[in-house]
Amino acid sequence: MPTVRGLIFRGKLVREALTLPFARLAAVPRSSCGLFEFLAPALPDLPRLPAHLAAATQPELGHQVVVESSEPEVARTLYALAVLGLARRVVEVGVFRGFTSQHLAAALGADGDLHLVDLSASALEEAAGRAAVTTAARVHKHHGRSTDPTVLATVPGGCDLVFLDADHTERGVRAELDAWWPKVRVGGILAVHDTVNVPGVGRAVHARPDRGPTLTLATSRGSGLTLLRKT
Ligand SMILES: C[S@@+](CC[C@H](N)C(=O)[O-])C[C@H]1O[C@@H](n2cnc3c(N)ncnc32)[C@H](O)[C@@H]1O
Repeated sequence: MPTVRGLIFRGKLVREALTLPFARLAAVPRSSCGLFEFLAPALPDLPRLPAHLAAATQPELGHQVVVESSEPEVARTLYALAVLGLARRVVEVGVFRGFTSQHLAAALGADGDLHLVDLSASALEEAAGRAAVTTAARVHKHHGRSTDPTVLATVPGGCDLVFLDADHTERGVRAELDAWWPKVRVGGILAVHDTVNVPGVGRAVHARPDRGPTLTLATSRGSGLTLLRKT
């Protein structure tokens, strides 16, 4: 049974939903910088971004109204996680134009493997090309849906870092998590983009608290990045 206080609280939520302008209702938390930029001045040992990446902007910025590539701080946070974790096997599912792929690639050494997955062949080509420029690691292209068994069969397990940024429906992300979580090694990290501004993605990520600790970071565009660590 809900308490009287609980009912009053819900009543206020309904009133807000009916009276507030949508922009205010749908407001999501935003950060003025990413985890990497926030910590770097305080932690001198944090890995520095290569100069060409420090200056990199999303490829479509200034050319398209909607910027679909991840915010720079998302790519930089993932770069830092990969470097600090001495990652050798990294996966990005949903690559678009390869803005994040090039950061992940730069974090890997010559003995590293970067696996890129996308259902768009042209996106995959562009992302792999951008990644290859910044790394001596092997870049593997996997053309297909994020949960396609053929794709999954060609990506080995024991991954240090998996970044999910493809399907953005609740059902789709649940399926992606079921498919990709077993690929993450113990101690490794699975990161999911858009967990704040796309409610279904957030619900999918938080549906299984038994998977391990999670940390959600607000981002400058409000999309949000959730990190899940496998214990
Ligand atoms: C938001 S963009 C990815 C942005 C990129 N991760 C970045 O950081 O810049 C989404 C990408 O996922 C791909 N995609 C969407 N649904 C997919 C699915 N079910 N399986 C594989 N790729 C998918 C799209 O073709 C697109 O390239």
